[in-house]
Amino acid sequence: MSLKIGPLKEAYTFGGHLSECFPHIFLEQVREQLPFFQFSSEEINMGLALKASMKSVGITSPNPAVGCVIKEGEKLLSVGHTETYGQRHAERVALEQLSAEQLNQSKKDLYVTLEPCAHQGQQPSCADMLSHFSWRNISIALEDVNPLVQGKGIQKILPQASALNVGVLNHECLAWHSPFFTFQKLKRPFFALKWAQDSHGSLAREDGTSKWITGPLARAYGHWLRAKYDAVVVGANTCLLDQPQLTAREVPDFVHHQPLRIIVDLRDRLSQVPPRQLNFLMEASAPWIVLQPKKKEFVTYSHVHFFETSSTSLKDIFLEPSFLKLCAQLRFGRPLQSFYIEGGAKLLKLFLNEGLVDLIHVMQSEKIELGTTSYQIPSSLWSSWRRLVEIRLGDDVLVEAIPNNSIFS
Ligand SMILES: NC(=O)c1ccc[n+]([C@@H]2O[C@H](COP(=O)([O-])OP(=O)(O)OC[C@H]3O[C@@H](n4cnc5c(N)ncnc54)[C@H](OP(=O)(O)O)[C@@H]3O)[C@@H](O)[C@H]2O)c1
Repeated sequence: MSLKIGPLKEAYTFGGHLSECFPHIFLEQVREQLPFFQFSSEEINMGLALKASMKSVGITSPNPAVGCVIKEGEKLLSVGHTETYGQRHAERVALEQLSAEQLNQSKKDLYVTLEPCAHQGQQPSCADMLSHFSWRNISIALEDVNPLVQGKGIQKILPQASALNVGVLNHECLAWHSPFFTFQKLKRPFFALKWAQDSHGSLAREDGTSKWITGPLARAYGHWLRAKYDAVVVGANTCLLDQPQLTAREVPDFVHHQPLRIIVDLRDRLSQVPPRQLNFLMEASAPWIVLQPKKKEFVTYSHVHFFETSSTSLKDIFLEPSFLKLCAQLRFGRPLQSFYIEGGAKLLKLFLNEGLVDLIHVMQSEKIELGTTSYQIPSSLWSSWRRLVEIRLGDDVLVEAIPNNSIFS
């Protein structure tokens, strides 16, 4: 199966379908802005499955957040999404809502964002479960790349389906599942960078302030991405200047995930400031990890952890097994699958220069002009990348792009 992602259909982004990413207060504004697009009925139904998968945002990692829809003609029979890591998969959730009569009739259609698993893990094989029933049509957006599944799930259900369709909305579902595919193919976490910039590429004013570059919708989308990814990463300067909480707050009611928070402090700045400048570390809804050149435990909160590293290469630090082990420990043993790097400019440039980037989410303000400042990401660092999303969010434009050497290019 090709992993190439082409430009996403309107209203789809790497964060899923825009209609599901925002808290209630923004929904009307978002829906008014969404472009109209002519979808086939297969795409509409797979879109329902993808929207369902978004309800599992952040809670399934390192398993994929899958969505599943079962229909009989025009009638929607059930919708399922993967439960918290280790719990039921989307297909089982959807199947278990059907009556005995519905299970036994053969005109059912199934739509699922990822090939059903063929193996018994913490849960029984979904493909085995589905193969007990007859299906008129089974639509799968993506073949799995996990060697335990890869085509075997499809082989198991094939005899029970009058028709099988693989590839519906595959670019959009692959974008949604891209951290899972990266983890499976490259055996390392996914690195997504995000920043807000003015039209000159400036991320902050010369005095170091950066509030309100972009509007409420762009900010809420940034919070949604915090819910999607496993850990948020920021530089020490950003912490000192912005006192950020780094939590997913402006999100839909169904969100139940807060990311780990990681501070890159390789020049040991935090241990040298007055304690009041470290008040942001009191926020305890998820653990913090401070990356330091020499361990100095300058606060004693039990939710703040320190990791010493002598390396200055981000690649070495972020792929270091003992660091990933600490991250997994703080996630109750679940391996970490994605990092979401939120700035500032220096840290983002370090990641870009090291080529440790799978995706960028850039929020471009069309209203605010900061002029040229020292906080900039030169557009030359990413202007030739493949732009797969370019869509308006309020007064701003969201651009999502992948490097030319990406497994998705
Ligand atoms: N618009 C946005 O999306 C956005 C997002 C986040 C932050 N911001 C703004 O960005 C500003 C802060 O950003 P920033 O660029 O100053 O810093 P930063 O990226 O937050 O922090 C970078 C950290 O890395 C250190 N560093 C620099 N070069 C390094 C190297 N080669 N090796 C190891 N460590 C290195 C820096 O040390 P030194 O301090 O010694 O240089 C600093 O501690 C704030 O104004 C904040 O409001 C904007």
